[in-house]
Parts: sequence; structure tokens; C-alpha cells
Amino acid sequence: MTDRILIIDFGSQVTQLIARRVRESGVYCEIHPFNRVDEDSLNAYGPKAIILSGGPASVTEAKAPSAPQVVFESGLPVFGICYGQQTMCSQLGGSVEPHVHREFGRAMVDVVDDCAVFDGLWSANSQHQVWMSHGDRVTALPDGFRPVAVSEGAPYAVIADDARRYYGVQFHPEVFHTPNGAQLLRNFTHDVVGCAGDWTMASFRKEAIQKIKDQVGGGRVICGLSGGVDSSVAAVLLNAAIGDQLTCIFVDHGLLRKNEAEEVVAMFRDRFNIPLVHRDAKDLFLGELEGKTDPEVKRKIIGGLFIDVFEEEAKKVGGADFLAQGTLYPDVIESVSFDGGPSVTIKSHHNVGGLPERMRMQLVEPLRDLFKDEVRALGRELDMPELAVGRHPFPGPGLAIRIPGQPITKEKLDILRQADAVYLDEIRNSGLYDEIWQAFAVLLPVRTVGVMGDSRSYDYACALRAVTSTDGMTADSYPFEHEFLARVSTRIINEVKGINRVTYDITSKPPGTIEWE
Ligand code: XMP
Repeated sequence: MTDRILIIDFGSQVTQLIARRVRESGVYCEIHPFNRVDEDSLNAYGPKAIILSGGPASVTEAKAPSAPQVVFESGLPVFGICYGQQTMCSQLGGSVEPHVHREFGRAMVDVVDDCAVFDGLWSANSQHQVWMSHGDRVTALPDGFRPVAVSEGAPYAVIADDARRYYGVQFHPEVFHTPNGAQLLRNFTHDVVGCAGDWTMASFRKEAIQKIKDQVGGGRVICGLSGGVDSSVAAVLLNAAIGDQLTCIFVDHGLLRKNEAEEVVAMFRDRFNIPLVHRDAKDLFLGELEGKTDPEVKRKIIGGLFIDVFEEEAKKVGGADFLAQGTLYPDVIESVSFDGGPSVTIKSHHNVGGLPERMRMQLVEPLRDLFKDEVRALGRELDMPELAVGRHPFPGPGLAIRIPGQPITKEKLDILRQADAVYLDEIRNSGLYDEIWQAFAVLLPVRTVGVMGDSRSYDYACALRAVTSTDGMTADSYPFEHEFLARVSTRIINEVKGINRVTYDITSKPPGTIEWE
């Protein structure tokens, strides 16, 4: 088995980044909430070391969460980050106090002694930038620890107990603003703990294929393709594992982007030779959506119809024992709520919610251990075209939620598709596509007056949206150059009949959402 690290979560906003940094160094890891770890689960998971995350609580409060005692009885190396460092110190006999000198944002640490996690990176008497976010601080160390770095607000910015291989940092090594942070974590996992660092997409692919074979045996699997990255990569991986025991069903609801349906069909049928049922259900969906404007009503109609059509097609091919889904790791991580109580937020897949129960199929979810960018890397490992693996996320209800506040018609869908295609074309040509999480056009429910040549026009306005994000939970609008936006606007108005005004949406999330509906 590949070496694995356990990350115990105390509810920090950036716990997932710890997992990403550890995985980027070639070591597999999982995030488990602090109140779900006990001796049995620890033994079952079998980590080589434990990382304690940050968190919003204060160890000085009575109900503060703490690390399960088994962590310190296991003999495993431990790396505590921020709250993780504080609870480790407090639990092992040191002390933590609130402090007037709170540190938020960039700070400098002074290295006062050598330490295994600094090897090859930081030496005594040097100064380094880190990112801090804390009110409390450690004020007395437990026996066996020594300070190895200090900052203005934290006399114990980095501490070490070499004998037990316990380390603690008051700052956040997992964030971008701690420039050497990833390397510090790597020193811990590789040099201190001795992880081999051999968890790569090639090794994941091999293991995942074996796991699918073991689970599915001789059974039949059905996979709903949406054209998005996750379901596409899941399908190609399944195909590599079980070949023609897999059937993919692609329901074209007529709410896709320009050429998307054709590209999906061509990729699966021609490039990968995967049996694909392509059901053209455009008229059915458009008919049911006629006159509907409420976003949740539209979502319900689309979700319900999708299930009906999918089930129909699945029956036609003789049914299956398993339903494959492109569920990702962020969807299955249990989150820790702010008061430390257990809060389980597991999102269901938007498109096929309820299907497995209804059709009595078991689930195959071969991507449930991966983050989005790891899914993309796996897709590349499986030799999938960049067009498919690099694609921006796209919502299940598609363009139906990008024509807000107005009835959806084929004419409006066509106008929107064209504007969207011009916008994405310009983004690609400018080399910006991969910098952006999601970019799309929205057809607004207003007509505006314009002048085109010598005559007056009275056409739709459209809004452009582009955001950067790491997980879609928060987002910032993309800061395009004015010239770029002007070029897109000119092209849309010249090339797309029906639009005579273009605006750019600069709302971040929160308070906005990424989609308009
Ligand atoms: P919001 O608009 O909530 O979007 O900020 C966050 C991410 O989720 C996508 N999204 C959806 N995906 N069905 C989906 O499959 C939906 O109903 C849906 N609504 C939003 C959105 O595109 C973004 O990536």
C-alpha cells in the first residue's frame, strides 16, 4: 500500500489546501474530522503520520475541540498547524493564551535553531515570510519541545520535539502566501516520516482500475455522461478497467454549449470506441420548460426529466448492476461545523440524485478520492484530449439557468450559445482559459436601444461572467484588461444577431453566486 498521511480537521477554511500540498508531493492523504477519529479508524486507515489542521475555535474555551488521545499514544509523527499546534501543546502539558498582538496576514519568522523540517531550506539566523491567522498563541512548551523559530506575535512560531517527531507551526504552511510552506510540509512527510512520495496519477490509475475490477466483477455498468470533465474521466477510466461491460448514456437536453454534444459523441465513439447511447431529448426538455421562469422550478423539471429519460435508455440497453458517477473528494469530505459539532454535508450529484435507489443499482465512484485538478491530471494520464480535461465546469441545468427571468426558447438559446462561443473563443485566443475557473455569457431579460449603421436597434443585452476559484464555493471576478472586454463586446454585437449591448459582471462570491440563477 502507498504511504498515507491522516489530516485531522478542526474546521479551518484552508484544510483542503493541506491535503493538496501533501498530495502534490506524491503522498496520499485524507481529511477526517477530529470527532470521527478513534483507535479503530486510525488502525483501519493506517497512516504513517498525522497532521492537525487549523480551526476557528480557541483552546482556552471550555468546549474546544481536541485531538483524539490515540494520536499521541500511536507513536506516529505529528505536525500541528495553527490551532493544531495549540491543541497539541495544550494536550501535552504546555499552555496557550489569548494575546493582544494578534497576527493576520503576512508575517516574518526568525529561525533560531536548525530543525529537520527546515533542512535544505531555512538555516539558523535567517528570516522568512509566512502567513499567520491567529489570536491565541502558545506561551509554554510541553516537556521535550524546543522553539526553532519565533515571530513578533508568537514566541513559538515553530517548535520541535525531535525524539517523538512532533512539530508545530503557528503559521499556515499550506497557503500560497507562505512561499516555502509546501517544501516544509514535504520535508516533514518525506524526510521526517520517510514517505516514498510515489503516489502519482500513473499509480492511482493502476490502483483505481484494479479497484473497479474488484468491485464490478462481471457486472454491467451504466454511466451518465454530461460532457463535463468528471463524468468523462470516470467513463474513460471505467472503460480502461472493464471495457464493454460499460455503457455510457448521454442525454442531450438541448441546453448545452455550442458544439458540445457533437464533441462528446465524437470523443467517446470515435476516439475511445466506448459504446455510447446518444439520446436527443431537446424537444422534450424545451417543451416542459415552456413558459417557466423560476430557477428552482427549472432545475426540478430538468432534474426530473433527466432521470426519466436516463432510466428509459438504461432499460433499453437491458439495465445494469452498477451506476457510475463522477463524485469528487470535496463532495464527500465531512465538514466540521464552527461550534465543533459534527455536521455532515455530503452533496448529491446534481444530475442523477435518486437514481441509484430508484433503479436498484450500486454506485461506482472511481474519482471520489480526487480533487478536481487531480481528475484533470488523471484524464491526461488516460490520454484524453485537452479540450475535454481542461473544460470549465458546467451546471447540470445548463443554459436554462443562464437565461434568467424569462421564458426559455430555442431562439434565445441559439443567441446565447453564439455569444458564449465568441466570448470563449476570445478567452482561448488570449491564453486565459486555464487561468479562469468558469467563464460564460448570460442572456438578460431586457431589450435595449442601440444604433447599428443608420438604423435603430432594439435587442437583448448580455452579461459576461468570468471567475477565479479553487472549488466554486467562493469566487472573484476575473480582472480582464479593458481592451479585452471591448474586443469581445464588439465581436458579440457584430456577430450575434439579437444582442446589441454587453456588460461585465464584477460581483464576487459571496455575496453573489457564480451563476445568475
Ligand atoms: P453558484 O452559482 O452556486 O455555483 O455559485 C457554484 C458552482 O456550481 C455550479 N452550479 C450547478 N451545477 N447543477 C449543477 O450541476 C446546478 O443546478 C448548479 N447550479 C450551479 C456552477 O456552475 C458553479 O460551478
